Amino acid sequence: MRRAKITIVGAGNVGATCAHWCAAAELGDVVLLDIPQMEDMPRGKALDLMQASPIMGFDSKLVGTTSYDDSANSDVVVITAGIARKPGMSRDDLLNTNAKIVTAVAEQVKRTSPNAVVIVVSNPLDAMVQQAWRVTGFSPNRVMGQAGVLDTARYRTFLAMELGVSVEDVSALLMGGHGDTMVPIPSCTSAGGIPILQLMSEQRLNEIVTRTRNGGAEIVSLLKTGSAYYAPAAATAQMVEAVVRDKKRLIPCAAYCDKEYGVGGYYVGVPVIIGTNGVEKIVELKLTESERQDFQKSVDAVKSLVASMDQLLKG
Ligand code: NAI
Ligand code: 2OP
Repeated sequence: MRRAKITIVGAGNVGATCAHWCAAAELGDVVLLDIPQMEDMPRGKALDLMQASPIMGFDSKLVGTTSYDDSANSDVVVITAGIARKPGMSRDDLLNTNAKIVTAVAEQVKRTSPNAVVIVVSNPLDAMVQQAWRVTGFSPNRVMGQAGVLDTARYRTFLAMELGVSVEDVSALLMGGHGDTMVPIPSCTSAGGIPILQLMSEQRLNEIVTRTRNGGAEIVSLLKTGSAYYAPAAATAQMVEAVVRDKKRLIPCAAYCDKEYGVGGYYVGVPVIIGTNGVEKIVELKLTESERQDFQKSVDAVKSLVASMDQLLKG
């Protein structure tokens, strides 16, 4: 059977760690790609990971490169290229630099892997995925953004810590943009099938939501030199797996919503089913009035982020 070809653009912390998870799970052969200025760095990381394969027992091949020719005809392309947050920076501070980087990367992806499913990770996520979609011109189902799996994983981790239960028993959903306006959906949050508000007070749940909203900043303030990468890379690998193994995972991701939820043509975090064709279905939930209002605020924040990006790209 032909192995899937997975290109990861950006061989930094998130990209290299994602290559690690993808190879270890034998999701396919992995091409780790960075800019020519990085010279041999991606080759070094790919070779190092390959040399772990006899120990860890995986047969995925890894290639490090600075040439898009090596990534030609990939089945999945993950875009992690760009700069990451340092203490005191918000995701939006990255907008200017990363919009130009993602534009350049998306042009190359369009040229070399015209049939790929593209998973964008670079921040600010909701604007970067919109830009990658526009530049590639791919159908919207083949371009998606990773944020919801990470945000929900953080939320599930904090809920499991609070309840003293296995993370496996905590199920949750967050919607909206990747940032301060993410929207928790308490009616879709449970532990062992028990609705969350039967297990903790609304006040405690709100405190955990606040910690989740600040989850990225909390790691930045601890690391001091960059932002989170283990959990973001694991979240991205889960999406890669959903595509290459046609898993039909029902997970949150930044998907192109037009009529869905009345969004009107923007990428925003919603529950979706992911398989070989990328986003195969957007699941439309009945939201309560307060959830609907919070979701609308989040959509408005995404729209204004995209408008700022468009201004910067014109300038
Ligand atoms: P990093 O600095 O460790 O790695 C970024 C890599 O991108 C570097 O190796 C750099 O040389 C490369 N790069 C820059 N321009 C490029 C180009 N034109 N083509 C190819 N490669 C290029 O940063 P890290 O920690 O890996 O983060 C990467 C991005 O992912 C950041 O924008 C960060 O904010 C974002 N991120 C998003 C998350 C999410 O949930 N959506 C979570 C964590 C990080
Ligand atoms: C995070 O949430 C930086 O977006 C990244 O950790």
